[in-house]
Amino acid sequence: MLDGMIDLRLAPMAAVTNTPFRLIARECGAGRLTSEEIDARGLVEGSARTAELASFLPEEHPIALQLLGADPDVLAEAARRLEAAGADAIDLNMGCPVAKIVAKGQGSALMRDPLGAAVVLRTMRKAIGVDLTIKIRGGWDDRTVNAVEIARIAESEGVDAITVHPRTRSQQYSGRAPWEIIAGVVDAVAIPVIGNGDVQSPADAEAMVAATRCAAVMVGRGALGAPWIFRGSQVPREDRARIIRRHDALIEALLPPRTAAIQLKKHLAWYASGFPGAARLRVELFRAQDAAEAREVFWSAW
Ligand SMILES: Cc1cc2nc3c(=O)[nH]c(=O)nc-3n(C[C@H](O)[C@H](O)[C@H](O)COP(=O)(O)O)c2cc1C
Repeated sequence: MLDGMIDLRLAPMAAVTNTPFRLIARECGAGRLTSEEIDARGLVEGSARTAELASFLPEEHPIALQLLGADPDVLAEAARRLEAAGADAIDLNMGCPVAKIVAKGQGSALMRDPLGAAVVLRTMRKAIGVDLTIKIRGGWDDRTVNAVEIARIAESEGVDAITVHPRTRSQQYSGRAPWEIIAGVVDAVAIPVIGNGDVQSPADAEAMVAATRCAAVMVGRGALGAPWIFRGSQVPREDRARIIRRHDALIEALLPPRTAAIQLKKHLAWYASGFPGAARLRVELFRAQDAAEAREVFWSAW
């Protein structure tokens, strides 16, 4: 939380919001963190890769772990295990637009089946004592915008908070995020609503709160290459350099070497966006043989 003002949070992003990025966001001031989506069935069936996605460090509290799934019993069992592992909240992904996910009835497909969603939430609610939260979209497509209906159902099933990314599934990530849908959900329920979508600066976060009266603001793409957005104010260049070096150190310390090199290149490319010649620099970064070479490329352009 910044200066007791807006509660800014890092949005879950698959293959991005791992422990190093979550920690750097937290160190810059991010509120409750969220893991990337974790496949409930993989977790229950003991997949080591899935378990890795669900791991977090003590410094990350408070943290929500986000589940992806559709089967109520599998989701409930996964939620129970994550609660036992120390999660402060379990978040259900009801927004993922990816074709192979919705084909399984998961992610945003849950919004197409309000009765089914109610059963899922009721079963998960009974399974855990920590907060149960959900992350929804505006709806499936522009003819079925039902965020308010889903939010009301969620509230009556005992859900503690709702994040709204108001684009529909059909919109994926394109077009404007219609914040008025967030305002509609805020009006419809008494539980906290977290607004999400197109926040690229602290000023945007203030505008979202003013427009929607949401309780907190979640930032996804606006934090890529700019985790200092969670400071909520202008960040001097030397502080940015320090934050990038700290993020690099966390990546190196916390990830296995091969993953670390890939993550470092990816994040340095985001940090380099806006540099003169950024496109060429990206190519050079991805061509780098190892982390050391990627660092050299980046800092010589800084
Ligand atoms: C690369 C990427 C991965 C994402 N992965 C997830 C995810 O695992 N779970 C989820 O609920 N949303 C996911 N999202 C959606 C974001 O959390 C967020 O709702 C969306 O990007 C809109 O917010 P923004 O405009 O601040 O980026 C992802 C978005 C991106 C760009």
